[in-house]
Amino acid sequence: MLLRRGQRFRYNRLVSRQPQGAATSPPPLPPPSARPPLPRRIWQSMILRGPVVPTTDRDRAFVTEHTLLLHLRPVKLPARTIRFTHTFGLGGSSLVLITILAVTGILMMLAYQPAPGLAHDSIVTIENGVLFGPLVRGVHYWSSSLLVVVLVLHASRVFLTGGYHGPREFNWVVGVSLLVIVLANAFTGYLLPWDQLSYWAITISTGMLGYVPWIGASLQRMARGGADIGADTLILFYTVHTSIVPALLVVLMAFHFWRVRKAGGVVVPPPLPGRVDAEPEKVMFLPHLLMREVSLALVITAAVVVLGAAVGAPLGAPANPGMSPNPAKAPWYFLGFQELLVHFHPVVAIVVIPLAGAIALVLLPYFTSDDEPAGAWFLSDRGWRAARVAVLAGLVLTPAAVVAHEAVSRAWPGATNWLTAGVVPLAAIGAGVFVFLRALRARFALTKNETVQTGVVLAAVAFAVLTAVGIWFRGPGMSLVWPWQR
Ligand code: HEM
Repeated sequence: MLLRRGQRFRYNRLVSRQPQGAATSPPPLPPPSARPPLPRRIWQSMILRGPVVPTTDRDRAFVTEHTLLLHLRPVKLPARTIRFTHTFGLGGSSLVLITILAVTGILMMLAYQPAPGLAHDSIVTIENGVLFGPLVRGVHYWSSSLLVVVLVLHASRVFLTGGYHGPREFNWVVGVSLLVIVLANAFTGYLLPWDQLSYWAITISTGMLGYVPWIGASLQRMARGGADIGADTLILFYTVHTSIVPALLVVLMAFHFWRVRKAGGVVVPPPLPGRVDAEPEKVMFLPHLLMREVSLALVITAAVVVLGAAVGAPLGAPANPGMSPNPAKAPWYFLGFQELLVHFHPVVAIVVIPLAGAIALVLLPYFTSDDEPAGAWFLSDRGWRAARVAVLAGLVLTPAAVVAHEAVSRAWPGATNWLTAGVVPLAAIGAGVFVFLRALRARFALTKNETVQTGVVLAAVAFAVLTAVGIWFRGPGMSLVWPWQR
């Protein structure tokens, strides 16, 4: 291994800092005359001045510190944090999916044309006239839906292991921004095929903005790039989708990863039952974590390739502004909000509830306690038992409330004013949740963080049920139907 003077110093210093499994004194460096063969020298001059396949901890440390991608990671990390069930690799999976989206998206930009008369035809060309076109489009489509799911799971994992407390609180805020940006990208991409499904989904979603008091009309105009969905909307969505959001994503993701490093890695889980290790045991990043990450990346890539090849991406008839499908639904990840619109006054459904939810989500780390233990799933046994009750309550009460409201609105179809569809139901739900959380707190002797966790689990399950109702149980006129009757 040939090293220059500065590198030799860093290398020796690094080696002397590696207690675990490392030799106590560095091995003698090969004499300058023992130069490797030319191809290896070229490779080493470009990429890596160490061994390609490191076999000792000393070499692994060197490779980790001296390669472009690996040097972003620590040389060693607490063994407990790399247990698969601690993070399920969800943050890394998000990065893999974003990379796949970037590659497949750039490929499609070579053929796609962002104009109403041409967009649908160019997608047909990608599907029928471009080598591997359907596969590339299918992989892009499935990666984007999977990314939304994986990100929600990642945020849930961080939340349920208490990974959002100090010193990670601002990284939680960055994460929430990333989630919003990814949703914005999924949403803007939805319009690009310019078929009936996408045209009307975007019409419905941007139409919801019109309910915002005072500024609704301006917001709607801004989102559409004009009064109606047309050429200006398409070019606006295309630019946001292919330039603005990706640029923001790169900047925010870099910041996100940097914050994870600065916080000393992910939150450390407690030792396994029966083990007491005050100072968590450490393992080398390479190969322990790297191998897991590479394996996971391969599994995810295989999954989206199989889905893309076997199922592909849907494409309906070209957009027809004169004929709306019935029901006209928003993209699936916004159907929870569309479902709220069925039950509440529009201002409550589109402004009050989402705004309150977003503010609560952003401020979550700042109104919970940093002093309570974190790192274990559901924080503790008590937290886990209370969360199970909350999941059960959400799964039973939300569909019951949907069905009950459907019956009530059939009996009194006109009762949709501020009082009957806003203040009264909101107050009733708020009071019910308050009593429920107090009862659970007393029953399980919950701490502050465990009580907040229980409340968030209840709200998240309720919203997931509403989304499922919107996807599978709403038929013509948004009436309730069984999935097989849609
Ligand atoms: C583009 C989207 C995102 C990417 C690529 C990403 C990636 C990652 C990675 C690789 C980690 C470390 C390993 C892991 O936890 O799996 C991490 C940790 C973290 N992420 Fe994300 N993330 C994203 C979005 C989010 C979102 C939506 C949230 C929250 C709403 C979030 C909050 C956090 C926090 C607080 C940590 C530190 C957790 C801890 O220490 O346990 N991230 N993220």
